[in-house]
Order: sequence, then C-alpha cells, then structure tokens
Amino acid sequence: MEQQFISRITSSRKNVSGRFSAKSPSNIALVKYWGKRDPQIPTNSSISYTLTHSFTSTELRFVPKQSAGFDVKVFLDGELNEGFAPKIRTFFKRIANYCPFLEDFSFEVHTHNSFPHSSGIASSASGLSAMAICLVQLEQSLGGELLEEEQLKKASFLARLGSGSACRSVYHGLVEWGENSFMKGSSDLYATPYPPAEIHEVFKTFHDTILLIHEGQKSVSSTVGHNLMNNHPYADLRFQLANENLQKLLIILKSGDLAAFGELVEHEAMSLHAVMMMSSPAYILMQPNTVAVLHKIWEYRQQTGLHLFFTLDAGANVHLLYPSAEAEAIETFIDTELKGFCQNGNYIKDVVNFG
Ligand code: DP6
Repeated sequence: MEQQFISRITSSRKNVSGRFSAKSPSNIALVKYWGKRDPQIPTNSSISYTLTHSFTSTELRFVPKQSAGFDVKVFLDGELNEGFAPKIRTFFKRIANYCPFLEDFSFEVHTHNSFPHSSGIASSASGLSAMAICLVQLEQSLGGELLEEEQLKKASFLARLGSGSACRSVYHGLVEWGENSFMKGSSDLYATPYPPAEIHEVFKTFHDTILLIHEGQKSVSSTVGHNLMNNHPYADLRFQLANENLQKLLIILKSGDLAAFGELVEHEAMSLHAVMMMSSPAYILMQPNTVAVLHKIWEYRQQTGLHLFFTLDAGANVHLLYPSAEAEAIETFIDTELKGFCQNGNYIKDVVNFG
C-alpha cells in the first residue's frame, strides 16, 4: 500500500531554486487518536473538525546543494528556531523513501502560526500538514505527475509520518483517519474527508471557542502519551470503544441529534484523560480550572437546555463546541462566566471550516 506514495520522478531537474507556500488549519478530534504503532499507524480510527482561524502558514524555500544528508533550518515568525530543526530532520528521515529529492536541496522553512506559540494549542498538526503540502508542490515541480486528489492524499500520507493528527489537517470539514470495517476508503496511512452529504446542516456551522486555561508547555508530550498506551491495562478496551464511538457518531452526524453528539464527544474527551490518569506512570493534564469549567458547562446546560459541549485535547485547554444558532447566548455566558478561568482571560474564537 505504501508503495503508491514512492515518488515517480524520473527527470533530474534538480538544479533549481524556488519557494512554495501552504496554509493548514488546526483540527480538534471528536473521536480521539490515542495510541499508535510504528510507523505512525493509529491503534483506532479518529475523526476531527478542521478549524478556520487557527492555522499555520508555511513557506518552503530551497536551493540546490551537492553534499549528502539533510540540510534544513526552521524560522518561526522570521527568527531562526533551533528547537524545531531536530523534529523536521526526523520527519525528513521518515519520509525520505517517498521524497527522494530531500538531500538535493538546502531548505529553509518559514512558518507562522495564527495563534500565539505559548497558547498551548498544538502547532504540530497544522505545521506538518502545511510542510507536507509544500513538499508535494516541490515534487510536482520536479516532474511529479500526481492528479490533484493524489497530491492531497500524498500530503496527508507524509503529514501523518510527521505527526499523526497532522494527516487530518490537509482537508477541510470533518476528516477521518484510520482503517475500519464500516467506512469505505478509510485508511491507516492517510486521512479522508467525510462526505458533507452525510452530515446534518446543524453540524456544519459549529463554533469552537478555545479556553486557554494554561498557556505553555504540557508536562507530558503527546508522543510520550501515545507510548504509554503500550502495555496499558485498558488499551484494548479504549481502542475498541473509540471505534464503536466513531460508528455511533456517524449516525448522529446524519440525524442532527445534538444531545447525543454532546454526550458522545464529551465521553471521548473524558476517556482520553481517564486513560492518561491510569497510565504507568500516571499523569494529569487537566488543571483545576479545566475541571471547574467542565462543572460550569454541565450546570449551564441543565439550566438553559442550550447545546454547549466540550472536548479536550492532550492538555488543559477546553474546546467549547456549540451550534451557530445558539452562539449569541452561549458567548455571553463564556464572557461572563468562563473567561475568568482562562490564564490572563485569554480565549480564541473559532468556527469549523467546511471549505
Ligand atoms: C489528543 O498527533 O500530536 O490530540 O502522532 O505523536 O505527533 P503524534 O501525536 P499527535 O496526537 C494527537 C492526540 C490528540 C487526539 C487527536 O488529535 O486525535
């Protein structure tokens, strides 16, 4: 299967310089990817919403070189960032088989996130997706002859090898990743956009307001967290439940059942954090204010009957999900009751992107 992604470039048009650019959105998983095996194969299927205003813009500049090995420098907002370079080199190593031209150039990656670096929002998904799209553009310019659909598929395939969730950031809307028996065309190797025709209108105009509860580095990285799922006593059950949840979610997405959506999505978020707490060694990424916000949301829902739900990623921040029709009332509640739980009162208002 991987064979299809090996570059078919035959010409030696390598003595060129140039630049390509791409912009990729962040995504937030509704059914979580948590657990993987080599090489970046997920242990269960996942599905995410792609966001609109939280994105990474990347420009890949390249000049020919003669020496062997990879040469890549990363600039964040115009400043050389030594911290990212090892990650990109590891990424290059993983994808070298599929992009045989990587050693032929010296690269500069110029990248900018629409959200502050310190916000705790992961930039690896949007960043590696944008990077992968640039590399596919480069391959095309060197004589690659991929059709548009194949280019996106290859970008998603490459992005996955950089960071699992990055493969979903190549597309808009709801995006699925992971092979299963109930979704035709699903794959462990790349993500697939979920057909809009299968999604009720109410889910296409969802808001995601991200409460920045704790800005800064998390205590346990996602990579370490995924590894802790190996030999985890509840791992198999978690993987099975995630796949079952995805299957249930597809029915909910079609029917427009908001209450069922919220129940399932919140259950997924809690399961993710529950398995973290039961890892060995155990760890907790929620902060006291994360927990306080969850209680507030449940209370508000009970009092108003409005459809305000939450999901969490691997950190302390809370993603508030709600339909457009209820945004006005809910956003007043966020400003008056939830903003105070955010570090420095910061939150990011975003909406789901259906392209
Ligand atoms: C909790 O994609 O960041 O956000 O593959 O090691 O780079 P690596 O991990 P990463 O994990 C994301 C985990 C998650 C859930 C999700 O996005 O599905």
